[in-house]
Amino acid sequence: MSNEHNLPGGPHFAFRDGELHVERLPLRGLALSYGTPLFVYSAASMLEALAAYQRGFAGRNARICYAMKANSSLAILQLFARAGCGFDIVSGGELKRVLAAGGDPSKVIFSGVGKTRAEMRLALEAGIGCFNVESEQELNVLDEVARSAGVVADISIRVNPDVDPKTHPYISTGLRGNKFGIAHQQALTAYRHAAGLTGLRIRGIDCHIGSQITQETPYLDAMDRILDLVGAIEDAGIALEHIDFGGGLGIDYNGDTPPRADALWAQLLHRLDARGYGDRLLMIEPGRSLVGNAGVCVTEVLYLKTGEQKNFCVVDAAMNDLPRPAMYQAFHGIVPLSRSDATPSPWDVVGPICESGDWIGRDRQLAVRSGDLLAVLSAGAYCMSMASNYNTRGRAAEVLVDGDQHWLIRERESAGDLFAGEHLVTA
Ligand code: LLP
Repeated sequence: MSNEHNLPGGPHFAFRDGELHVERLPLRGLALSYGTPLFVYSAASMLEALAAYQRGFAGRNARICYAMKANSSLAILQLFARAGCGFDIVSGGELKRVLAAGGDPSKVIFSGVGKTRAEMRLALEAGIGCFNVESEQELNVLDEVARSAGVVADISIRVNPDVDPKTHPYISTGLRGNKFGIAHQQALTAYRHAAGLTGLRIRGIDCHIGSQITQETPYLDAMDRILDLVGAIEDAGIALEHIDFGGGLGIDYNGDTPPRADALWAQLLHRLDARGYGDRLLMIEPGRSLVGNAGVCVTEVLYLKTGEQKNFCVVDAAMNDLPRPAMYQAFHGIVPLSRSDATPSPWDVVGPICESGDWIGRDRQLAVRSGDLLAVLSAGAYCMSMASNYNTRGRAAEVLVDGDQHWLIRERESAGDLFAGEHLVTA
């Protein structure tokens, strides 16, 4: 049975008097107030995750740009903006969220393989810090858009270092077969090309090799390959002010033991210093590692169905709220909010959506009855931000906890919200 020492999320998600708490509040009380499914986040857990990076970069010229695709709820962005973070965005919509949350546009970097002209214009108007350009064609289009707006766009080129991050194939991004970045061998040509475009100002270089990385080696390999390139680019007379190593550090879902951010960066900085690049502005784009373990999704058990082959525990959260198991066969821990002495038995925890892929956990040992409340763990990253409205299900509510205080940071969507922009044919 779980205890406070083995729940991912560290000390901020722990059982006290048999009840699961987030910081100083029992989750049951929040679920009763706001209903289920309900995402609950710990502010302290997020700030501690950030502090590990800040410790790692102490005394360095470094910028942490939170990859907001992991969780883009406004109050979460506000928390990171107040803590001094910049943001890694991948759409005009994400930029609007940063601005609405009070983020500083000059600390925004814009990644992604398919930026539209309209998104480029929006970002130039807002005065973002840097575009991470992912193809030669994008260089040309951005140059054109910037010149017609009478401005110069600051850019870095995302280089695909062709390093295996040893993670799920859907979340590997730095391999030769992935759509991301400009191939390592073509990077120098792309930089030379960019240097000749008057609408662009070259600032740096960047890479991002994948997500949920739990080993140090892929980072060290990627760093070596990027630094080789930095040398070649600068030999060609093109100065690079910053080096951006992307995000990707993994979290604990199921006993995973990724390196701590400060320990990982101690190693990487050692390598950077040894190769003479330790004085550059360093940028990183962590997403999951800042928020993933800081959130849970509370769900109610609706029905128990025992069968010949399988027992199903049907809960009110589904693949529209928690898409990772269906998309990546991902594991999220599941624990009842209240401890009991009842004997556990194996259950497939599934949602109400009409798809066999709508499962949240398979073969979980749980002692459950209908009406019980369960917490799906490590649900702070890539859950709400990937939630959908499939089966006309409104997205869940979200609560942020800080000590014994809490805020409803997103209201539950109603069915009316979902079809508010639709029109019947009037003819
Ligand atoms: N920078 C870039 C350019 C990225 O593409 C990503 C994530 C990040 C930073 C942040 O990576 P992180 O630190 O969160 O690993 N939906 C998947 C993960 C997709 C990650 C996409 N890119 C999942 O739920 O596992």
